[in-house]
Amino acid sequence: MSSSNYYKFLFSRFYDPFMHSIEMKELTHRRERLLSPLDGTILEIGSGTGINLPFYSTNTKVFALEPNPHMWEIIEKKRHYTCNLEPIVKGIEDPEVQMRFTEPFFDSVVCTLVLCNVPDLRNTFRFIEKVLKVGGKLVLLEHIRSHSNFSAGIQDFFSPSWKFFADGCNLNRETDKVVKEFDFKLEWEEYFSISLPFYSAIYEKQ
Ligand SMILES: C[S@@+](CC[C@H](N)C(=O)[O-])C[C@H]1O[C@@H](n2cnc3c(N)ncnc32)[C@H](O)[C@@H]1O
Repeated sequence: MSSSNYYKFLFSRFYDPFMHSIEMKELTHRRERLLSPLDGTILEIGSGTGINLPFYSTNTKVFALEPNPHMWEIIEKKRHYTCNLEPIVKGIEDPEVQMRFTEPFFDSVVCTLVLCNVPDLRNTFRFIEKVLKVGGKLVLLEHIRSHSNFSAGIQDFFSPSWKFFADGCNLNRETDKVVKEFDFKLEWEEYFSISLPFYSAIYEKQ
C-alpha cells in the first residue's frame, strides 16, 4: 500500500470514532431532519462512511460519490441503509462523473461536510446547478469561515496545516456566501457552532 493510500485507509478507520460525540450531540438530528423528507433521485457528494445513508427513505435512489475506496469497505460492512444505492468510487471533479451527468437528472443534491474538500467550490456549485432539476433541492450541512474577522483570521492561519492532516479539508471556505452566487432560491438556513461555525441550508433550483 502506498503512503497516500495508507493515509486514506487510516482516515477511513478513524473518521467515525473521531466524529462520534459531535455526531451524537449536534449532527445526527440535523441530518435526519434534512434528509428524511427527500425522495426520488439523489446525488450525494462525498458519502464518507455512509453516515447519511440510513436517513434516506426506502423509495429513494442515491448515487453516492466517494473517491476513497476504504470508505466503501466501511459502508459495505455496515449495510445499514434501505435506499437503492449506486456507489460511484470517484470525486465530483472526475471527468467520468462530469461526462456521465450533463443535464438535470437529480431531485436532490446532498453535501454534508464535503464542500471543504472539493478541489473547486464554484465549479462544484456550477455542476450541481446543471444536474439538479428545476424545483430540486440542494441540501447543505457544512462548516464555514467565520463572519467574525478575528475568528476567520485564526481559521485562515490554521487552514494549511489542518488541510495536510485532515485529508484536504479547508477550514475556511465561505460556502454560505458562495452558494448565494448561484441560481438557487433559499428555502431555509441555520447557522450554529461546534467549535467551528457551521451552516445548514436547503435551497431550491430555480
Ligand atoms: C469529511 S468527510 C464527510 C463524509 C460525510 N459526507 C459526512 O457528512 O460525514 C468528506 C468525504 O468527502 C470525500 N471527498 C473528498 N474529496 C472529494 C471530492 N472531490 N468529491 C467527492 N468526495 C470527496 C472524502 O473522501 C471523505 O470521505
